[in-house]
Amino acid sequence: MKFFIVCPRGLEIPLAEELKEISERSEVKALGAWVIDPPPLNNTGGLGVAGPMSVALAINLHSRIASRCLLQMTHVAYRKEDDIYKAARSLSWEDWITPDQTMRVDLTAHRSPLTSLNFVTLRIKDAVCDRLREVKGARPNIDTELPDVRVQAHLTATHATVYLDTSGQSLFKRGWRDDKGAAPLKENLAAGILALTGWKPEQPLFDPMCGSGTFLIEAAYRGLGIPSGSIRAGLMNPQQDAAQSAQDHNQAVKSADKSEPSKFTRYRPTRVDLVGADQGFGFQRLKPFNTPDLKKQWDGLCIVAKKNIEQGLANANKLKMAACDINENMITIVKNNWKRAGLPAQSGVLSNVRQIDALVAKSPFAEPGVMLFNPPYGERLEIKGGRDGSERVKGRGARDALPKNNNSPEFMEFLNQFGKHLKDNFQGWQVDVLTADMGLPGQVRMKESKRTPLFNGPLECRLFRFDMKRPDASSSAS
Ligand SMILES: C[S@@+](CC[C@H](N)C(=O)[O-])C[C@H]1O[C@@H](n2cnc3c(N)ncnc32)[C@H](O)[C@@H]1O
Repeated sequence: MKFFIVCPRGLEIPLAEELKEISERSEVKALGAWVIDPPPLNNTGGLGVAGPMSVALAINLHSRIASRCLLQMTHVAYRKEDDIYKAARSLSWEDWITPDQTMRVDLTAHRSPLTSLNFVTLRIKDAVCDRLREVKGARPNIDTELPDVRVQAHLTATHATVYLDTSGQSLFKRGWRDDKGAAPLKENLAAGILALTGWKPEQPLFDPMCGSGTFLIEAAYRGLGIPSGSIRAGLMNPQQDAAQSAQDHNQAVKSADKSEPSKFTRYRPTRVDLVGADQGFGFQRLKPFNTPDLKKQWDGLCIVAKKNIEQGLANANKLKMAACDINENMITIVKNNWKRAGLPAQSGVLSNVRQIDALVAKSPFAEPGVMLFNPPYGERLEIKGGRDGSERVKGRGARDALPKNNNSPEFMEFLNQFGKHLKDNFQGWQVDVLTADMGLPGQVRMKESKRTPLFNGPLECRLFRFDMKRPDASSSAS
C-alpha cells in the first residue's frame, strides 16, 4: 500500500526521522517493513510511505508531527475532469465504505490546468456515489462537518491522486484541548518544533509565554513516551475535572476569549469497531480495518501503547519543565489542559507554571536547558487578563498590555528588554523562538545560531535559535 503523510510545511525532515523511529518500534516492525521517501528538497507538506496497512494504524497512534495519514487509492494521468471521474468511478469503493456512511471530498491542486476545482471535487463525489449506487443500490450522504469518511484528491499539472483519509479529524486534535487560549499553536506543529530544537527529556524546558501550554504538554507526552494518539485511541481518558475545576475553567475561557469556546470533541473508542465520526481515527470507519486480522494488529499496538503510558506516567515527576504567561487566565487554561491530557497534577510541573511577566521570569532550574516559545504577533493578539478580565494585567510583573502593532516602539522596546533579560539570566541556555517577525534577532539584539523556515498555517515563520553565552565560555549570542 502507498500512503502520503501530511505535515506542516517545513517539518518534512523531522517527520522522516519520526516515521523511521515509529517503523523501528518492535511491535510495528513485526507487522511488516516500511519504505519511507527521503525528505523533499522543497516544502511539500508531507512524505510518501510504502508498506502494509499497519502503517496507518501506527502513524495515527504514534506520529506527533503528522497532520493526516492518507491511503492512496489511485494515481493516474489526466487531461480533463472526466478522466478523473472515470478513474475514481473504477475504484471498488464498496470494499471500503458503506452507503449508510457519510462522506466529504477535498481537493488540493498545484499547477492543474483545470479551471474549476470545485467542479472536479463534485465529479469525484459523483464517482464514489455512482459506483456505490450501482453496486450497493444506495449512495452515501455528504456531511462536510463530521463525515464518517473523507476522500482526498490532489492534482498536479499532469496527474491526479485519490486518497482515503485514515485519520479522520486532523491528528493535531489530540483530544485534550477544551479551549484554544488566545492563539494556540497546533499540537503537531509544536511537536515538530520541539523535535527541531533537539530537546532531550532529561533537559530542563521552559516556555516563558506559554499561552495554553501546547509546547509544555507536547513535551511532556514526548518526554514520557506517551503516544500522541492515546486519547483518541481510548487508552487515556481526558480527565473530567471536578465540578469546581470545570467552573474555574469555563470562567477562564470566557475571560480569555470572548468568542464561544469550541465544542469539546469526545474520543471514546477502545477497539477498531465502526466508531462515530467524532471519535477515534478515520481508519476505524473503513471496512478493511474491521477485519479480524487488522483488529488484532490494532489491539496489539494498543497493548504496547498502554504499557508505554503506564511507564511514562510513573516517571512524570522526573520532568524538568516550567512555563509562565503574563495572562493569569492562561495559567488556569494550561493547568486544565494538562489534567485533561491525563498528566498527573502532582508531577511537580504544575507548580512551575506561573503567572509572571517573561521580563522578570527566572529559570526554576539550576542547570541550563532549552527555552522554547512563540511570542505574540501583535496583529493577532493583545495581552488580556487580570483577575477581573480587564486589559490591565495584574499580578507579579504587572504592566500595561502590549499594543497590537508589532512594529510599535513599545513592542520593540519589549523585545529589546527581553533580549537583555535572556543574556543576564539564562546563560548557557538554548533559546528557540518561533515567530513570523523576520527582524526578531535585531530586536532582541542577538545573532541567531540557526534559522529554520516553517509555516504556521499560511503564515511564513522562522524558528530562530540563540545560544546564550555561558558565564565562562564564548558563544554566538552577542
Ligand atoms: C502566541 S501566544 C503563545 C501560544 C502558545 N504557544 C500556545 O500554544 O497556546 C503568546 C502568549 O504570550 C503571552 N505574553 C505576551 N507578553 C508576555 C509577557 N511579557 N510575559 C509573559 N507572557 C506574555 C500572551 O499572554 C500569550 O498567551
